[in-house]
Amino acid sequence: MDRPTDAVPAVVHAPEAFRAACDQARTEGRRVALVPTMGALHVGHLALMAEARRRVGVGGLVAVSVFVNPTQFGPAEDFARYPRELDADVARCATVGVDVVFAPSPREMYPAGDQTRVHVAELAAPMCGVTRPVHFEGVATVVSKLLALTGPCVAIFGRKDYQQLQVISRLARDLFLPVEVVGLPTVREADGLALSSRNRYLSPADRARAAAIPASLRAARALYADGERSTLALLDTVWMGLAGSVDSVDYIELRDAMELTLPINPLSEETRAVLAVALKIGHTRLIDNTVLGEVDVTLD
Ligand code: PAF
Repeated sequence: MDRPTDAVPAVVHAPEAFRAACDQARTEGRRVALVPTMGALHVGHLALMAEARRRVGVGGLVAVSVFVNPTQFGPAEDFARYPRELDADVARCATVGVDVVFAPSPREMYPAGDQTRVHVAELAAPMCGVTRPVHFEGVATVVSKLLALTGPCVAIFGRKDYQQLQVISRLARDLFLPVEVVGLPTVREADGLALSSRNRYLSPADRARAAAIPASLRAARALYADGERSTLALLDTVWMGLAGSVDSVDYIELRDAMELTLPINPLSEETRAVLAVALKIGHTRLIDNTVLGEVDVTLD
């Protein structure tokens, strides 16, 4: 499947055909990278694809999956209205030299009789797992299926979905999957709002309020840089920064960056702690995070 870099990617719907394309590339000695997505692609996704290309080289195969995965949505969530725009997504993929777009139907990914689910226990339980109890099992299951079909040497995700990245890294490690799971920094708008396919749900007024999210994380980072190590003080700064701008809060939490357990208060100098928020503005649920004790090129 040799192609000029600006060519339109091949679009494959059937899992068997997608697997065959990836198998063939590996047989030819090409490295294969996977970028799993639910489509409605934005610049953040394109950065993942560009990194995939960088990692497999010009001769490698960059595969992108576009699949709105039903098993990761709860009954009251936005599965039905999640944006679906495959033609536009394929055109976006062409701009970064993607070779193949895998766009299966739910029936193809979950054929009759499908009954296997991948459950990552502790990492999936807190934070988003509290209000979205089926979410990470759906994510872990579909990502396992995608990795099994693709057989990539590298799979690339965004760090905006920080808990998701930890869940996927752990499942790859626990199942001895021969894939490197890579998390890339969040891509942000000029005012700092993390790019998300769900940002399009925001009205202009709600969009303006959403700038409080990165601002509150920045304020906490500044306090941490000044030497504050009290988790209460750091969390309080985020609460204060969000007050008046958001309609409800799912959580504002500081957790150990690897295990997602509650860190010791005050934070020790060795602790890498993820400061993560999930909240609603209008009807739109947004998440964001930053890791304290680590450079954050997107917020510093
Ligand atoms: O982050 C996403 O877009 C999805 O959760 C993923 C990883 C593609 C699984 O459906």
